Amino acid sequence: MIKVYENRKLRDMNSFGIDVQADRLIEFDSHDELRDLLASDSSLLAGRWAVLGGGNNILFSDDFHGTLFHPVGKKITITHEDDDSIEIHAEAGIEWDNLVDWCVGREVWGAENLSLIPGSVGAAPVQNIGAYGTEVGQSIRSVETLCTDSLTKMTIAAAHCSFGYRESIFKHALRGKTIITAVNFSFSKHPAPKLEYGDLEAETKRLGGPSLQNIRQAVIHIRTGKLPDPKVTGNAGSFFKNPVVGRDVASSLKNRYPDMPVYPAHDPEKVKLAAGWLIDRAGWKGFSNGKAGVHQQQALVLVNLGNATGADILALAHDIQLDVVEKFGVRIDTEVNIF
Ligand code: EPU
Repeated sequence: MIKVYENRKLRDMNSFGIDVQADRLIEFDSHDELRDLLASDSSLLAGRWAVLGGGNNILFSDDFHGTLFHPVGKKITITHEDDDSIEIHAEAGIEWDNLVDWCVGREVWGAENLSLIPGSVGAAPVQNIGAYGTEVGQSIRSVETLCTDSLTKMTIAAAHCSFGYRESIFKHALRGKTIITAVNFSFSKHPAPKLEYGDLEAETKRLGGPSLQNIRQAVIHIRTGKLPDPKVTGNAGSFFKNPVVGRDVASSLKNRYPDMPVYPAHDPEKVKLAAGWLIDRAGWKGFSNGKAGVHQQQALVLVNLGNATGADILALAHDIQLDVVEKFGVRIDTEVNIF
């Protein structure tokens, strides 16, 4: 059901816990419902607008003067099932981890390494959420959107979503042109544990071997050990993306810092560095200025230590970016969307 809120407080709708408000927030369940509303009132898309999912990857630098569309539809529908796989249609308002839990409960593979990533299903393809060697784009068949120019349904096949490391077409060519209303996934029934990243294999072993449940529990255990709970300390997970650099840049840094982690990138000519390592090595881990800070266990995560404003967090982010460029000659970009 459509619900419209004027001057909606957003403190409980963004994981940084920034105390701002939106002129208007519109909750919708389904594509058709939203289309009908927008068709009946053209002013809704005339001014500033954006989509607010779980609010887990957003930093509000100020009040939002415009309309936020907030999907709340939570239906999961099985659209096809055979001995090998299951295909599902998931509405955008489902909490991502509830979908992972659903998959693990049904013994289907593909989402388990993405356990406990905060956020909604509709937000997952936008930044192609990823963790422990898996990205959501690998399980997506297509993304259903409402095209805001034509007010028609546009279903974009995964092959056309330009999925990359924390990247998709929704951040670029389709930015501000579509509203994601549902995602179609395909998950496998054949066991395919992916345990190569970090401590995942050891942790899964400790729990009794690579069953879906154990992998999910291992990921949850590793994540909760490193990442602050947004219900306790405001944060948006990784604030920065890991920088992708040329092999020459990485090898000259590696000569200076032999312990620096280096990972493969989508582009074979390039490699990915660990922004957390760079920020940590630059001396920022555990930093606090009383309002904003850098998490003690994971330097990639900026935290709201009390009543930080969006500007406080941004100022800290900026200082860190400058320092990392100065010390390592590498630019780290924000992963979080700044509004
Ligand atoms: N590291 C440090 N100090 C730190 C943090 C990291 O030295 O303070 C080092 C680690 O020891 C490790 C390397 O940097 O050698 C990478 O660290 P980690 O495995 O913790 O992963 P990450 O690159 O910091 C990425 C994702 C996380 C995801 C993990 C696991 C990005 C921007 N972040 O973090 O995603 O959970 O890998 O796959 O790619 C998120 O996007 O919000 C997020 C939490």
